[in-house]
Amino acid sequence: MGTMKAPRGKIPLSIIAVLFCVFAFMALLYTERLSFLSSGSIFKFRPCAARYKMSKTDNKRSVNKQIDYAADDRFEFDPEECDIGHGKWVFNRSIKPLYSDRTCPYVDRQVSCVKNGRNDSDYRHWQWRPDDCMLPRFNPDIALKKLQGKRLMFVGDSLQRGQWQSFVCLVEHIIPKSQKSMKRGRVHSVFRAKEYNATIEFYWAPFLVESNSDERIVGDPKKRILRVDSIAKHAKHWVDVDILVFNTYVWWMSGLKIKSLWGSFANGEEGSEELEAPVSYRIGLKTWANWVDSTIDPNTTRVFFTTMSPTHQRSEDWGNKNGIKCFNETKPILNKWHWGSGSDRRMMNVVASVVEKMKVPVTFINITQLSEYRIDAHSSIYTELQGQLLTDEQKADPLHNADCIHWCLPGVPDTWNQILFALL
Ligand SMILES: *[C@@H]1O[C@H](CO)[C@@H](O)[C@H](O)[C@H]1NC(C)=O
Ligand SMILES: *[C@@H]1O[C@H](CO)[C@@H](O)[C@H](O)[C@H]1NC(C)=O
Ligand SMILES: *[C@@H]1O[C@H](CO)[C@@H](O)[C@H](O)[C@H]1NC(C)=O
Ligand SMILES: *[C@@H]1O[C@H](CO)[C@@H](O)[C@H](O)[C@H]1NC(C)=O
Ligand SMILES: *[C@@H]1O[C@H](CO)[C@@H](O)[C@H](O)[C@H]1NC(C)=O
Ligand SMILES: *[C@@H]1O[C@H](CO)[C@@H](O)[C@H](O)[C@H]1NC(C)=O
Repeated sequence: MGTMKAPRGKIPLSIIAVLFCVFAFMALLYTERLSFLSSGSIFKFRPCAARYKMSKTDNKRSVNKQIDYAADDRFEFDPEECDIGHGKWVFNRSIKPLYSDRTCPYVDRQVSCVKNGRNDSDYRHWQWRPDDCMLPRFNPDIALKKLQGKRLMFVGDSLQRGQWQSFVCLVEHIIPKSQKSMKRGRVHSVFRAKEYNATIEFYWAPFLVESNSDERIVGDPKKRILRVDSIAKHAKHWVDVDILVFNTYVWWMSGLKIKSLWGSFANGEEGSEELEAPVSYRIGLKTWANWVDSTIDPNTTRVFFTTMSPTHQRSEDWGNKNGIKCFNETKPILNKWHWGSGSDRRMMNVVASVVEKMKVPVTFINITQLSEYRIDAHSSIYTELQGQLLTDEQKADPLHNADCIHWCLPGVPDTWNQILFALL
């Protein structure tokens, strides 16, 4: 089941794609509501390979001891050697997430699937197992020690917000109440671990570059205008951060051309050009890359980029002809290398080619392939719409209301952070 993409790109996606994109964006629109954040700071860094070797003897060994794969001949995790996307999901009921949406107070209702009524639990017991290496289990104690005196900031859209909440929840349960705080803002949110002098922050910038749909979301994608060459307004909040984790993808994928603005047009918004998404995306990412290269000191700051989070809006992609998007799915796709229409390879290629030319090293957290399999792990109908839980009536209409973009927490974003943890 490879990609459904047509040889020349557009034909098969046409009408259905447009419809699904519209649903996707309705979901986004209502769920993105506002995001949050305020700010704080802390951090420092070390080149990855060196850092990894240094800790191998101490921390890592204890981490790896906890891996229960008996008689495993796979290598210890090494980002240079191991293709994280090459592997499989293994079911093990005795593996429990480190938190739940009831124990962690920081999970947004949008992704609190259990609280919202989801009662099938298998989706919480799958573990990602790369073929070539052992991915160390997330260890909150070691994670916090790595963040000692540092600021970790996730920057991007609501999927990045999910990754941020996952990271906070993975560590916060070992910190006593008096030693932690959370400040949520519309744009910038800060979780502080006082005894570690560390912060784990989120900054809302769904396109990374500036747009008219940042702080106040413009619901109609046709009315969104991107300033593809401007980033300073957001980026000034990213300086002095020690570990930056960026993403941006799904907001570019409305299926429409993107109204893009650059330079100073005398006629303002009238002067915008409509560009195909990959073209506009390339300019936007170049703007981001130039900022990173001209501002970030790679000796003190580490930069990560989370690759696109797949959407699962077309059940035909995984051969479920009678399915309704990801609704009612309770098992991952087991076909190796499944790749659906919700992950656009052109966009992936843009990211890869922009990053390749950068001076500052950017480490990918390549989540796309492993997340592609997880049609069972989206928030689906166990979510909210315009700040309200779905009513039974709305739940009965999954075609319009199931959210197959965002992920339940605990869930797949915990695995993304397991990878980040291994790379720190
Ligand atoms: C806490 O971390 C900040 C950087 O994020 C640093 O400036 C400050 O000196 C640290 N404070 C202590 C007590 O270590
Ligand atoms: C991420 O992984 C996928 C498949 O595993 C690969 O096709 C893609 O090129 C990778 N992306 C980047 C930016 O390295
Ligand atoms: C499942 O996980 C438990 C606890 O980590 C471990 O002891 C057990 O061996 C695992 N089972 C399988 C089949 O891998
Ligand atoms: C789970 O929920 C569904 C519908 O919401 C219900 O039909 C089913 O009986 C529930 N199952 C359990 C085990 O509670
Ligand atoms: C980073 O560290 C290296 C080696 O210590 C040094 O040569 C280089 O000038 C430093 N770069 C910056 C931007 O400070
Ligand atoms: C959802 O799955 C359950 C259990 O497999 C099934 O009984 C139900 O009919 C499904 N609902 C729809 C709308 O497909």
